[in-house]
Amino acid sequence: MPDLLDVIARRASRYAFAADPLPDDVLETLFEAARWAPSYGNRQPWRFVVARAPHVLAAVQATLTRGNQYARRAPVLVAMAADPNDGQIREGREYYLLDCGMALENLLLQAVALGVQAHPLGGFDEDGVRAALAIPAQVRVLALIALGYPADPATLDEDTRERDARPRRRKPPEEVRAFDTWAWRESPD
Ligand SMILES: Cc1cc2nc3c(=O)[nH]c(=O)nc-3n(C[C@H](O)[C@H](O)[C@H](O)COP(=O)(O)O)c2cc1C
Repeated sequence: MPDLLDVIARRASRYAFAADPLPDDVLETLFEAARWAPSYGNRQPWRFVVARAPHVLAAVQATLTRGNQYARRAPVLVAMAADPNDGQIREGREYYLLDCGMALENLLLQAVALGVQAHPLGGFDEDGVRAALAIPAQVRVLALIALGYPADPATLDEDTRERDARPRRRKPPEEVRAFDTWAWRESPD
């Protein structure tokens, strides 16, 4: 049983995808992990639409921004979507977004445990994804997730290889947590 923090720290957004398809049981395990995420009022607003039939996948690939062309090599692109009018906004707090974020992270961590490479993407044309997957107009497409097995980064173009090799950075703990009071004062000037 891998240590949970080790799984969390090993999750990374990598760029090189192998062409090998993902078996159905592997895909289902990823969604099973997402399904167990907590959500406001247990409303479970997340919906995952899998693009893998060649013509559907091609239509979703066509929505990727210029910087996300590497994701064309992933054998599966998943759209994570939710309806904001699903009762998930309370006093302006958009819980459906929080809920979907948690489901996404569950999926990403399960992918690490299965040796699957998963890369979340915000760079896509939302209307294009809706059209490709017959997603209704009121539903927001919050992210695409490129899924597949890892490939050798040597197969990437130079720019993408450089992005892939960048060290992963995080803010130090004191920049993101405080005890008893808000610790981050605006500077006077
Ligand atoms: C909501 C969301 C949108 C993202 N959009 C993109 C994207 O469009 N293209 C991309 O290459 N990476 C994208 N990423 C990946 C982030 O760049 C990445 O998570 C971040 O740099 C931290 O790196 P790590 O995931 O390897 O820890 C996105 C991640 C999230 C959570």
